Amino acid sequence: MGAFAAPALSLSGITVRYRGAALFDGLDFAASGAGLTALLGTSGVGKSTLLRIAAGLVAPQTGRVEAAAPISLMAQDDALAPWADAVANVTLGACLRGEAADPARARRLLNAVGLGDLPGLPATWSGGMRKRVALARLLYEDRPIALLDEPFSALDALTRADIHALAARLLEGRLALLVTHDPLEALALADRIVVLSGAPAKIALDEAPPLRAHAALRDALDPGLRRLHARILLALERAP
Ligand SMILES: Nc1ncnc2c1ncn2[C@@H]1O[C@H](COP(=O)(O)OP(=O)(O)O)[C@@H](O)[C@H]1O
Ligand SMILES: [Mg+2]
Repeated sequence: MGAFAAPALSLSGITVRYRGAALFDGLDFAASGAGLTALLGTSGVGKSTLLRIAAGLVAPQTGRVEAAAPISLMAQDDALAPWADAVANVTLGACLRGEAADPARARRLLNAVGLGDLPGLPATWSGGMRKRVALARLLYEDRPIALLDEPFSALDALTRADIHALAARLLEGRLALLVTHDPLEALALADRIVVLSGAPAKIALDEAPPLRAHAALRDALDPGLRRLHARILLALERAP
């Protein structure tokens, strides 16, 4: 990722309407440099749409998207190929682009996300396993900008603590934008917390929690984070 010392992503004046209702009306969002931004908001506010716009998969009616480095997206529905085993799913992008795949590297990344030798096909995996394979695939792509749509939502609480530590380590050095519905997840992981709220959606909160130690997690229950936690909950509940 050396060629992209300062990954940057900028969305400006984004307007999107579905069935006459404005989801976004001139929304601006920008991030630059390595770091993890958590994007929160109630269901249906437009988080997935915003990530798809950033990834270039959805064209807004008006507005501009500028990305100063290549992007990878881990979609909310994990988008695994049902016919492909774990290694083939991780290397799917390379295969689709007609590039030589590196199965050994795929296996190392599957190990890194805690899967080891995962046999079988996606239909036989748990929701958490599927999310981990999708995370390994995103890491395999090795893009400086990583967009992750609810990457940990299918994981139980114990697995979650593990995967938070993992994600903080594995995403380090990238500009990561991570959608979550869990304020505690955001408080544990993020360098910046953005809450979308209302219709059309606006940025109701944009704050940087206290710095965390190198690749370490914050204790989301730390008394020093309680006020920010309360503000996040308030911003989430703000009426449109
Ligand atoms: N392609 C589409 N066509 C029509 N409506 C859509 C489309 N994509 C998203 N929407 C609507 O936009 C709203 C926001 O969706 P989404 O971005 O998935 O929200 P979130 O990820 O925050 O839950 C929802 O009401 C959804 O039904
Ligand atoms: Mg969504």
